[in-house]
Amino acid sequence: MKFFIDTANLDQIKEAKDLGILDGVTTNPSLMAKEGITGKENIYRHYHKICELVKGDVSAEVISTDYKGMMKEAKELAEIAENIVVKVPMIKDGIKAIAELKSLEIKTNCTLVFSAGQAILVAKAGATYISPFIGRIDDTSWDGMQLISDIFEIYSLQAYETEILAASIRSGLHIVEAAKAGADVVTCPLDAILSLLKHPLTDIGLQKFLDDHKKAQAALSKS
Ligand code: G3P
Repeated sequence: MKFFIDTANLDQIKEAKDLGILDGVTTNPSLMAKEGITGKENIYRHYHKICELVKGDVSAEVISTDYKGMMKEAKELAEIAENIVVKVPMIKDGIKAIAELKSLEIKTNCTLVFSAGQAILVAKAGATYISPFIGRIDDTSWDGMQLISDIFEIYSLQAYETEILAASIRSGLHIVEAAKAGADVVTCPLDAILSLLKHPLTDIGLQKFLDDHKKAQAALSKS
């Protein structure tokens, strides 16, 4: 399973990259706004910086919601760097744009997916990635992870090539469950990635190893 970081924050991207496990980045207009990046030029410059930092796929989302506008933006975004993946919303014009972008060999990530039916259309259109939003489904008291399992089953049976990118990840447990459900990629906030490092028995065990080593060294220097 590939690990992407879900942020537009350059420091967090660097931190995840330094761990040596980062395969890519996803962003969205909310995440760009959170970093205070506004205006097309600044936004595109920021995508360029991310693409220089990370050689894997970097998702950059269109703002237009009509076919023509999305196609224009998608082509402009794709010009920024070779590793740009154009993020397109799961709407009628979005599906049409994804199909056309596939024929132009521009990679796409279909975002805001909440049902298995939507997932079938996304795969038929030929998206590179599909982003089902796990956490937001959980927020409505439905089972977000079940959607990953359902899409995995359908895509496996139908031999669809679109990669399942589990998004709206909120915790380390979500990451583990997404891996079990067959996600190809998980995109996570840095906190969720770092939470995978933690286990109290690791800390206790390491402390004991170090204490025992220290005791043995002290005994050796006394003898
Ligand atoms: O990549 C989509 C993701 O950022 C949405 O996450 O936490 O806003 O539901 P969230």
